[in-house]
Amino acid sequence: MHENSILVLDFGSQYTQLIARRVRENRVYSEIFPFNAPIERIREFRPRGIILSGSPSSIYDSAAPLPDPGIFALGIPLLGICYGMQLMAHCLGGKVAKSRKREYGPAELVIEQREGVFDGIPRRTTVWMSHGDRIERPPIGFSTIAHTANSPVAAMADRRNGFYALQFHPEVVHTPLGKRMLKNFVVKICGCKPVWTMQSFIETTTEELRRRVGENKVVCGISGGVDSTVTAVLVHKAIGKRLTCIFVDNGVLRSGEAQKVERTLRKHFRMNIDCVDASERFLRRLRKVTDPEKKRKIIGNEFIRVFEEEARKIEGVRFLAQGTLYPDVIESVSCKGPSATIKSHHNVGGLLKRMKLTLLEPLRELFKDEVRRLGRELDIPDEIVNRHPFPGPGLAIRIIGEVTRDRCDVLRKADAIVLEEIKKAGLYERLWQAFAVLLPVKSVGVMGDERTYENVVAVRAVHSVDGMTADWARIPFDVMGRISNRIINEVRGVNRVVYDISSKPPSTIEWE
Ligand code: XMP
Repeated sequence: MHENSILVLDFGSQYTQLIARRVRENRVYSEIFPFNAPIERIREFRPRGIILSGSPSSIYDSAAPLPDPGIFALGIPLLGICYGMQLMAHCLGGKVAKSRKREYGPAELVIEQREGVFDGIPRRTTVWMSHGDRIERPPIGFSTIAHTANSPVAAMADRRNGFYALQFHPEVVHTPLGKRMLKNFVVKICGCKPVWTMQSFIETTTEELRRRVGENKVVCGISGGVDSTVTAVLVHKAIGKRLTCIFVDNGVLRSGEAQKVERTLRKHFRMNIDCVDASERFLRRLRKVTDPEKKRKIIGNEFIRVFEEEARKIEGVRFLAQGTLYPDVIESVSCKGPSATIKSHHNVGGLLKRMKLTLLEPLRELFKDEVRRLGRELDIPDEIVNRHPFPGPGLAIRIIGEVTRDRCDVLRKADAIVLEEIKKAGLYERLWQAFAVLLPVKSVGVMGDERTYENVVAVRAVHSVDGMTADWARIPFDVMGRISNRIINEVRGVNRVVYDISSKPPSTIEWE
């Protein structure tokens, strides 16, 4: 199906996913396989070229990750990046020098042969280095095509076989012309055509969905988030009214959430949508529970129960559609996205078995930014496409201590003010998440002549690329001031607002 594609072999670099995304930016499909994928599997995928990623390992480690040697005999171009370069040298008979010192940071690359990956790149350009070992002698058939002050062989090539290797990282933004180098490899050296567009993705995926689903019915749980909404809209485009969306109000949603989702899907897309107000059930089960993991379990289990009850009401349902993304399914040796663990509460395994449903995951080949692009292409309003992630357990893990309806109401009001002010200041799209947390702390204040003894709200706003690490956002003081004033004046029961200035790690984004 993806004959015009590039394979990335993952040797454990933190940048592996970035390499795949960079390839896709050229409208060429790419997938990540673990470094030790057997050659038969690679052949079956039929890539036009393979990129060997970096790795935290040294080729000298006793457990250094090595690929199936068959990749060198496939007759397709290879690009080794950092460890991938050393690996190529090692496997093809060159010499790699062990180094105790890491070279880390920007370096000036001097290109000796401005062709192949370096086609159209000026003779001198900045690149990002992050490596220990380095190449002392390229293998036979290779020539040195660039150097830096510290690396006499900063790039090498065996042009006859289409093998290229770079000591630096072309995939990171700190290598300003790295995108061009990768494009040269993908388009010029491997001969890939830029045909993988969101429009073509929509066409092939809807066709495939129609073929798989036939005349049967599909259910899809929607949360108001971008992944589930895009999934639902895509499936709806394929099979129309044979899709029913189920939206469960679990009592710990943000202000106006249920109404917003319903409005968009029912009015804008004319979908079948079943909105269930199950807040009472969830809140009853959450009574007196303070342990964060228990809260997660309770909400996850109850969700499955409610969802199953609703799905059983629809006759002839055979499929369940879910918004699983590519980072959740990569068999990665490097870090997985946060979703790998956080989606565990949506464990639908039992549900599928009990109801004899088959899983549909139409987004399982896409990265988050691609899902957003797809969403825009499908005419989903920006308000949903650009939405911050919202955790499945919702406000329950932002109310520290026991979750009650009253406390939910207090937090909902404070949270709505945070979001309103952040949006008004034009900051929303620049942040990964912004929200309020209700603390189990009371503090003394004065209002008029009265002494008050009320709740404390913490405001959290972070920058992040994937939720794995995060930095607290330097929100302008006047915006913070407005948020604080409004919360204290407008939200009854709160008399103090604090701003969370912790980064992840060592803190987490959520408080529980
Ligand atoms: P932490 O708090 O672990 O959060 O730094 C990282 C990202 O994951 C989200 N998150 C969750 N999402 N269920 C979810 O669906 C959860 O239980 C959960 N816990 C954290 C969090 O909002 C952030 O984006």
